[in-house]
Amino acid sequence: MPRDAQGLAVTMASEEAAAAWDHLVSGYLGYRADAPQRLKALLAADAEAPMAHVMRGAFAMLAFNRSFVPPAREAAEAAARLAARATPRERAHAEAIAAWAGGSSEAALAAWRGILADHPRDVVAFRLHHFLAFWMGRPEEMAASAEAVRPAWNPEVPAHSAMLGCFAFAAEESGDQQAAERDGRAAIAADPSDLWAAHAVAHVLEMTGREEEGIAWTSALEPHWEGGSQLVHHLWWHRALYHLQRGETEMVLALYDQRFRNLASPLVQSHADLYIDMQNAASMLWRLRRLGIGAGPRWEELADKAMARSGDILSAFTLPHWMMALTASGRWEAGCRWLEAARQAAAGEGAHATLVREVALPVCEAILDHARGEPARAVALMRPVLGRMHRLGGSHAQQEVLWEVFLDAAVDAEDRDAAQLALAWSRRRFSAPPARRIGWAAASAWVGSA
Ligand SMILES: [Fe+2]
Repeated sequence: MPRDAQGLAVTMASEEAAAAWDHLVSGYLGYRADAPQRLKALLAADAEAPMAHVMRGAFAMLAFNRSFVPPAREAAEAAARLAARATPRERAHAEAIAAWAGGSSEAALAAWRGILADHPRDVVAFRLHHFLAFWMGRPEEMAASAEAVRPAWNPEVPAHSAMLGCFAFAAEESGDQQAAERDGRAAIAADPSDLWAAHAVAHVLEMTGREEEGIAWTSALEPHWEGGSQLVHHLWWHRALYHLQRGETEMVLALYDQRFRNLASPLVQSHADLYIDMQNAASMLWRLRRLGIGAGPRWEELADKAMARSGDILSAFTLPHWMMALTASGRWEAGCRWLEAARQAAAGEGAHATLVREVALPVCEAILDHARGEPARAVALMRPVLGRMHRLGGSHAQQEVLWEVFLDAAVDAEDRDAAQLALAWSRRRFSAPPARRIGWAAASAWVGSA
């Protein structure tokens, strides 16, 4: 039986198919835009390789888009059927995808943890677990997984640097900026095109208030981003955050139009409402709006996407971003209809529906209420869910915008106690105090003047 680059047995019809598998996996790990073509090449080499169908299902689920769930389920069924003659590891992969596509992210995480207990060099199980745990707001699980597999890795094993990039991000989100920077920089030294490692260090530089270093870091690595997937947009979003902190708002808008929301770009057009792109775009325009900078028709474009995805609650963290677009473009009635559709979609049982219903939707409703002139009601809606807001997923840097929503409502409601909660969150996360952070300084002074 052929083996993959990390030495694991793979059920593939030929060495050629096994090589196509390795090519696909390196494309997935490396956030290559051509990963779907690499999957097609594998299916052409071996249409019955169970792991090809596992990846087909994973790619569909990774879009966090309701309309992609039926094809993901079909892929999971094909993987399960074909895995009957495959290894126990591959059967477990098929079970993980079936669980994920079936609505049980928890069972998918457990299946990947089970695979990693026996096969700590299974990069696909590791990365899928890493990624889904991130979007479930579980940095502690990301860090535990990194710690568990780390002894099985060394620089001689292919994809070691990609693993270092994941270890770095898990450390960063767990608050260990030093370990994150060490692993992230080591990964980039081995492979400067590693987008996830570049991203992990970009986070460290954001959290530790080193904007100039962040600009230098992204400038130096940018030549290596050709052929990257939408994660490149997110890297440019990080770059824009550094400029925002320096007050360079014209540069922020230029990066918006040319780098991370360039509507003429084939990469944007290929999946124009992808969750990460929506988050990048809405959260940056929202930050600018708080500074009094209008975005013109940019909000309309995002609001149209929000309405088209009405009732799709798969990406919990994206929901408040869509509501930002609806309110910033003044679509009150549409916002109410959108909220009602989300409520209906979240009416069912299950951990995800509960999280959306109990945490994401109060945040969305608060955004709407505050925009309609009811900041005290917005504070009342968000205050009870602040402690669970991180479970919506998203990094500390991304979560900041939700805390800014709460901060603004608190200030407008003249509720200093509530504003203190937001300021305390910011102080715990960022090295620079709120008084020296853009978008926080005025509230900090207002609270301090009490
Ligand atoms: Fe990020």
